Amino acid sequence: MIKIAPSILSANFAAMGEAVEKLQSQGADWVHFDVMDGNFVPNITFGPGMCKALRPLTALPLDVHLMVEHPCDWIEPFRQAGADILTIHVESSERHLHRALQAIHAAGMKAGVVLNPATPIEACIHLLSECDLVLLMSVNPGFGGQSFIAETLSKIRALRKEIDARGLNVLIEVDGGVNPDTAKLCIDAGADVLVAGSAVFKAEDPADMIRRLRG
Ligand code: DX5
Ligand code: ZN
Repeated sequence: MIKIAPSILSANFAAMGEAVEKLQSQGADWVHFDVMDGNFVPNITFGPGMCKALRPLTALPLDVHLMVEHPCDWIEPFRQAGADILTIHVESSERHLHRALQAIHAAGMKAGVVLNPATPIEACIHLLSECDLVLLMSVNPGFGGQSFIAETLSKIRALRKEIDARGLNVLIEVDGGVNPDTAKLCIDAGADVLVAGSAVFKAEDPADMIRRLRG
């Protein structure tokens, strides 16, 4: 069963609590939480304080996507803020990704790595045994509302093949430009979790959009 993770980057920042409170009844599986530091990406969003404030408002897992340099500095703050899943970019300044994934697990959270569109899947092959998920970016990170980069599909297929061949239990999450058309392509290619920001939050009927994304 495909999971849908609405990205609150596209929600109304002035009414974030209400947006998050509604997501479970609208059929969402996870809440995707985009953390940007103005260094790793050319934008700034929110951090552990926002996570802590939203935590009591939903029972859904909080899926924290760290688009930051020095991601290890943020493991403990996000643990304390109630995050469930923490993903870190292989392109970040963290040199010791394997150890960083172990540190996220030791803090009691699920762990994964994120690959930018230009990064080949080889960058995560030797990390898969430490990953609960791999997040493949289908846009360049930093902003919502961009167009899906079609070359991501071959990366999803290749990663699916590798995970299945090794009998691993690693989810493939796809993030960026996901709408009902591109969602179907991702699902057919072997994705397990789809992040959708503008598709869900700009929809007149978010519950219906979440259903349509699931295919
Ligand atoms: C982009 C973020 C995405 C973003 C997706 O840097 O990681 O999660 O919110 O937005 P849409 O679905 O609008 O492409
Ligand atoms: Zn994201």
